[in-house]
Amino acid sequence: MPAPTALITGITGQDGSYLAEYLLSLGYRVVGMTRRSSTDVHERLEHLLEKIELVSGDLLDQNSMTTLIADIRPREVYNLAAQSFVPTSWTQPVLTGEFTGLGVTRMLEAIRHVDSKIRLYQASSSEMFGKAVEVPQSETTPFYPRSPYGVAKVYGHWITVNYRESYDMFACSGILFNHESPRRGKEFVTRKISHGVARIKLGLAKTLPLGNLDAKRDWGFAGDYVKAMWAMLQQDSPDDYVVATGHTHSVRDFARLAFAAVDLDWQDYVTQDPQFMRPAEVDLLIGDPSKAKRVLHWEPETSFEQLVQMMVEADVQRLRVLQAR
Ligand code: NAP
Ligand code: GDD
Repeated sequence: MPAPTALITGITGQDGSYLAEYLLSLGYRVVGMTRRSSTDVHERLEHLLEKIELVSGDLLDQNSMTTLIADIRPREVYNLAAQSFVPTSWTQPVLTGEFTGLGVTRMLEAIRHVDSKIRLYQASSSEMFGKAVEVPQSETTPFYPRSPYGVAKVYGHWITVNYRESYDMFACSGILFNHESPRRGKEFVTRKISHGVARIKLGLAKTLPLGNLDAKRDWGFAGDYVKAMWAMLQQDSPDDYVVATGHTHSVRDFARLAFAAVDLDWQDYVTQDPQFMRPAEVDLLIGDPSKAKRVLHWEPETSFEQLVQMMVEADVQRLRVLQAR
């Protein structure tokens, strides 16, 4: 049997790099869609560039996506590409709607026109629960998004469900709670903290300005979560799944542990800066991953403490190498 082919949009992002690694380990041919850029955006993929194929396409361009699907004829498509940073969704709400919302419809249309049997994973988000109406949040919890990003993801979720029901497509929506790693973008709070801690430890900074320290998130490790994406597309029928740890921690908890990992007290360095507060906040997210456990046999393998330790160690190591140059 020839190796199955997977197309990943958003392959240059955090999840794209972990998913590409995982699919390669399973024997897949991995093709990644990237948008044109005048600079090198392959930082997370350097170690994989010989093993994957990169093709050009953009979530804004229907024709580029349809042509790619027709040329590549993947068995599975993982639609990870999006404008994924919540604060940017307030300053660029229309663009966020185009990428993160309508981009999903463009991918569904591309698949429907070429071969509606191609399986699709849509990267949905716990941000859709927003001002959560129940605790913990499961597949049946109603959505109450609190940002233009969350609203766009709700659209992406429902259009995925709609195409599944309208056209009998194998389209799954993975409602993933926050997942982090040493490859996380530095603007997200966990990586901002681990990178900030490393800079302070090595004498490169004196303080770490943050926003709301009380916000609570269900944080897991991205390397664990991409396995759930794959498992969803191996089932007999398409469905939607919450992927989470079932535990929640505050931003303050994360900062405390991260500073403690290098024997520092967070209270000596963390300051609060109103510029990092949001117009509308998501106060508490905690997922109920029991369906993923029951049906997909998926469980997180990395604890919160291990995640924090891993991220701080990686940033300290990275900065030490840079300092030694
Ligand atoms: P990320 O690191 O921000 O990566 C986003 C990816 O989307 C990048 O590869 C980016 O390419 C690409 N992209 C953005 N706009 C595009 C466009 N117009 N055309 C083509 N590609 C475009 O995000 P992530 O953390 O890996 O998350 C992956 C997906 O899961 C996203 O859809 C995110 O919203 C969703 N999600 C993430 C989490 C989480 O906690 N990480 C939780 C739930 C859902 P460039 O490199 O060119 O910018
Ligand atoms: N980014 C950031 N920077 N967030 C801060 C800061 C700061 O300085 N200080 C406090 N926070 C708080 C935010 O207000 C928010 O409540 C929480 O930390 C997490 O913020 P982010 O790490 O930016 O992630 P997010 O929860 O808004 O969104 C991420 O998770 C979603 C899943 O729930 C992103 O990855 C989304 O793409 C994803 O869908």
